[in-house]
Amino acid sequence: MKFFIDTANLADIKEAQDLGVLDGVTTNPSLMAKEGITGQENIINHYKAICELVDGDVSAEVIATDFEGMVKEGETLAALNPQIVVKIPMTKDGIKACKYFSTKGIKTNVTLVFSVGQALLAAKAGATYVSPFIGRLDDISTDGLNLIDEIRLVYDNYLYDTEILAASVRNTMHIVNCAKIGADVMTGPLSSILGLLKHPLTDSGLAQFLADYAKGNQ
Ligand code: E4P
Repeated sequence: MKFFIDTANLADIKEAQDLGVLDGVTTNPSLMAKEGITGQENIINHYKAICELVDGDVSAEVIATDFEGMVKEGETLAALNPQIVVKIPMTKDGIKACKYFSTKGIKTNVTLVFSVGQALLAAKAGATYVSPFIGRLDDISTDGLNLIDEIRLVYDNYLYDTEILAASVRNTMHIVNCAKIGADVMTGPLSSILGLLKHPLTDSGLAQFLADYAKGNQ
């Protein structure tokens, strides 16, 4: 499974990259705003900075909601760096834009996906990635992981190339369960990735090893 980090924070991106397990980055307008990145020039420069930090795909979301606007904005973003993936909302115009970009060989990530039907449409439109938001479904007492499971089944039925990018991942168990189901990618905060490291028996075992070594090597 590929690991993407879901942030626009350069320090977090660098920390994940330095760990050696990072395959890409996803951002969205809220994450950019959280880092205080505003204005077209700053936003563009920030995407360039992220691309310099990582080797993999970097999702950059369009703000336009109409087809023509998405195409114009997406082409500008895609021209910044071959790593850029144009992130498009799951709407009628978004699906049209996704099809347009896929025929042009521009990578896409269809975002804000909350149903199997939406995921099916995204695959039909040639999306590179589809982003079902599991955490936001869990937030409203709906099983987000079940959606990943159902999309996996449908995509496997027809051998769609679109990669399932489990988004809105909030914790380590989301990552583990997505891996069990067979999501192609997960995107989550740095804390969810670092959480995978933790086990009390690892900590106590290491402490014991070091204590025993110290006793014999004084
Ligand atoms: C996906 O690409 C989104 O950026 C993100 O995963 C949304 O996560 P949230 O629901 O925690 O805001």
